Amino acid sequence: MAEELKITAGTKEEQYAQLLPQIEQLLQGEEDGVARMANLVAMLHHTFSFFWTGFYRVVGEQLILGPFQGPLACMRIGYGRGVCGTAWKEQRTLVVPDVELFPGHIACSSLSRSEIVVPILREGVVRAVLDIDSKELAAFDEVDRVWLERIVAIL
Ligand code: SME
Repeated sequence: MAEELKITAGTKEEQYAQLLPQIEQLLQGEEDGVARMANLVAMLHHTFSFFWTGFYRVVGEQLILGPFQGPLACMRIGYGRGVCGTAWKEQRTLVVPDVELFPGHIACSSLSRSEIVVPILREGVVRAVLDIDSKELAAFDEVDRVWLERIVAIL
């Protein structure tokens, strides 16, 4: 049964705080990983009107495009390549205020100006990354990092 998100206007932190329990509630009872990623991405993307929001899954030595919202994207990214592959390699969230200043950034769209990539670890191994792009410079900060890390922990 589809539900509507209930997010009232407020600070970014307040919006994340409202979103998190609604994601938990919606995903409760669904065990399929792709279905869970798909609705999680949709909820995030439409709450904050990001430019691109999606998952890349670790498959062997590559990241392969998973559920996403936004324009078409690169389908495969190598280990250590781009922001996504670097977050995978370093096993930590990367906040990139200006993608043009990130060495090796992979430009799936020239409209993307800033980015955050959050790795998803299980038993110390990165299984996927959540990648979010914005058309604004410096759109992401510590608030996004903290809340997005909490949100992907639901998966
Ligand atoms: N910019 C990313 C590639 C993925 S797209 O932004 C959707 C990177 O450098 O890894």
